[in-house]
Amino acid sequence: MKELPKVELHLHLEGAAPPAFVRGMAAEKREDISGIFDDRGAYHYKDFWDFLKVYEAATSVLRTPDDYRRLTLAVLEESAAAGVVYSECFLSPDFCGGRDVAAWKDYLAAIRDAADQAERSMGITLRGIITCIRHFGPDKARETAICAAETAGDWVVGFGIAGDEKVLAPKDFLWSFDCAREAGLRITAHAGEWQGPQGIRDTLAALNPERLGHGVRAIEDLALVDELAERGTVLEVCPGSNVALGLYPNFRAHPINELDRRGVKVTVSTDDPPFFHSTMVREYEELHRAFDWDEGQFAKIAKASLDAAFCDADTKARIAKKLEA
Ligand code: ADE
Ligand code: ZN
Repeated sequence: MKELPKVELHLHLEGAAPPAFVRGMAAEKREDISGIFDDRGAYHYKDFWDFLKVYEAATSVLRTPDDYRRLTLAVLEESAAAGVVYSECFLSPDFCGGRDVAAWKDYLAAIRDAADQAERSMGITLRGIITCIRHFGPDKARETAICAAETAGDWVVGFGIAGDEKVLAPKDFLWSFDCAREAGLRITAHAGEWQGPQGIRDTLAALNPERLGHGVRAIEDLALVDELAERGTVLEVCPGSNVALGLYPNFRAHPINELDRRGVKVTVSTDDPPFFHSTMVREYEELHRAFDWDEGQFAKIAKASLDAAFCDADTKARIAKKLEA
């Protein structure tokens, strides 16, 4: 499983921070955030909403562009070790300079510097998707979208929304998504994780994303499943995340196999791997155990993921060679 070349489309940079890395950052800043870890040193939270709080507490010790350079290197080391050859990760100007465009550019330069280094030394390619955070509200999302538009190009390739799906509505973020789209950014949105089919329908109607983060609860409405298949909407499915956060009791109960069978374009990602005791290798192993997914199925998933990637054609062609090899 480790050797299979993988493409990951849904990874939150801060959410991928190894706990030991975050503890080191906290020690450097003489901050005590020991309350977010269990006695074995793993992140500890009760439910999704507590997870968001722990996530934000862990992120609070990442303060400078150099912290983000080191974080990016630590994260890409883990991804490369799991066989990931291409990754798109969610970047948050909220946490990187408080949505100030000049500050954001410094953070982005540091992240890109680490990505260049990782590409040279580990052969993994990274691109960024700027994400606003739903529970931070539409005003902050506007500032985030401006950061995204100001840095859109061949490296910052997308715009999205994460956070608490139960507050506000996709249409409240329309200005931000229009701004990002006008800057040439491709669109993905978290939906169908904490809201059911209606949340997905509202997201499609308001924001018209090419991809959905999660989207798995479409399975509760088979007409919507057919619509996703017809539209060609790509689901960034994170089965281990959904199981860890209690959406489904185990992998066998997860709808990814059924969505795939019904013609929806599914991909596989880890979301926030250390929070969910996951890696891309573990996702593959569990999918193999639950659904007997084999090398052929994983090759199909990797190809579908690369097809749905937001990078340019030259990059895709370069990565496609790695998938074939
Ligand atoms: N931010 C980080 N992980 C997330 C998830 N699984 N859902 C929504 N927002 C997130
Ligand atoms: Zn996510």
